[in-house]
Amino acid sequence: MAILEIKHVSKFFGGLAANSDVSFSMEQGMIMGLIGPNGAGKTTLFNCITGYYPPSKGEVTFKGTRLNGLQPDQVCRLGMVRTWQKVRPLAKLSVLDNVMVGALARTSSLKVARELAMEQLKVVRMEHKPEFPAGGLPIGDRKKLEVARALATKPELLLLDEVMGGLNPAESEEIIQLILELKKRGLTQMVIEHDMKAIMRISDRIVVLNSGEKLAEGGPREIADNPDVIAAYLGERVE
Ligand SMILES: Nc1ncnc2c1ncn2[C@@H]1O[C@H](COP(=O)(O)OP(=O)(O)OP(=O)(O)O)[C@@H](O)[C@H]1O
Ligand SMILES: [Mg+2]
Repeated sequence: MAILEIKHVSKFFGGLAANSDVSFSMEQGMIMGLIGPNGAGKTTLFNCITGYYPPSKGEVTFKGTRLNGLQPDQVCRLGMVRTWQKVRPLAKLSVLDNVMVGALARTSSLKVARELAMEQLKVVRMEHKPEFPAGGLPIGDRKKLEVARALATKPELLLLDEVMGGLNPAESEEIIQLILELKKRGLTQMVIEHDMKAIMRISDRIVVLNSGEKLAEGGPREIADNPDVIAAYLGERVE
């Protein structure tokens, strides 16, 4: 059974179809890359999948449960969580407290939440600065904090929205290794990313959105060689 099924999802903002009849599914344990030009509807699709927006049409099924109408916190408790393209940590709180906010989706015990949060800080290699105020973190650490906070909710499916955006090559490489490590642990992931070399390395399959519509779906090599994808997005062939 697919862990996630997206069937004919459309999202309209007035006359604009930000998503138009998008369908695809994900198997447990895989990494799905989601790519496409700016404004293609990638973030909107994350919003529709995770309950931030109700889809205008179509349906989303997670582990066999139809999600339409569920709120993001309910979707999160079912085991699906996303990170935000524009990271906004709770600036005045410490790194650890920020991650505890995620953990509190799973437990009402502060002690348990603290332990769960510390575990996730280790996963993203930020365990050395739990008391640091989140507002003062450089971008690389903010992105990792965002992932740790999402992981603390104990997801089975993690949706990452441009988690490498604005990072230098060394920081991006660290994120790639983290994503691959999470895959090894069995976490299913959907990854929005503009860096084609990165997306080709990590993805089992890739969906391409263009002007709200699904333009193509396939393996990384197949997508990189697809003339429609090259014309709409890549501009040139990626080796
Ligand atoms: N809340 C909203 N109200 C009105 N229009 C919106 C809203 N959210 C997104 N849009 C529009 O929907 C389209 C898709 O936007 P979206 O943010 O999903 O694109 P994206 O693929 O994530 O782009 P990027 O790569 O730049 O992040 C854009 O034209 C955008 O302006
Ligand atoms: Mg976006």
